[in-house]
Amino acid sequence: MTFPNNLRAGVAIGAIAMFAVTANTAPSRAGDVASGRKIAAAKCQMCHGMDGQAKVPGAPHLSGQVEEYLMMQMKAFRDGVRKNDMMSLVAPTLSENDEADLAAYYAAIEVTIGKVPSE
Ligand code: HEC
Repeated sequence: MTFPNNLRAGVAIGAIAMFAVTANTAPSRAGDVASGRKIAAAKCQMCHGMDGQAKVPGAPHLSGQVEEYLMMQMKAFRDGVRKNDMMSLVAPTLSENDEADLAAYYAAIEVTIGKVPSE
């Protein structure tokens, strides 16, 4: 059996559409650390701290984390792709620019690595 050309074209268009959706999720501007700090003070510090060190069991440290990764995870919670009782409530209140600002803020907190086992 051979696949008709229009099916192949459909697959190609689908792939392009998926790419377009991904591209559209990028925030409209670079993250603003000062703005991120304000949002963190209002919405995040009780669990992640202003210093990005977790304050409740089960919450991860965010300080010094890779900026792109922080953005991806906030978006995943907002879209419901990643679910958590706490984060799934907070994430939908954030805009893409809020996420970029928060990612810039937490990523900018300097962390120092101490002893690595077996080194
Ligand atoms: C009530 C507590 C709580 C609040 C408030 C909260 N978080 Fe979280 N956050 C958590 C928990 C718990 C997890 C771990 C979720 C899981 O296990 O999947 C998490 C996970 C995350 C992750 C994923 C980190 C990783 O390593 O994958 C990011 C990013 C994050 N939170 C950012 C934020 C930001 C930014 C705010 C403020 C807008 C916020 N959180 C507010 C509890 C909280």
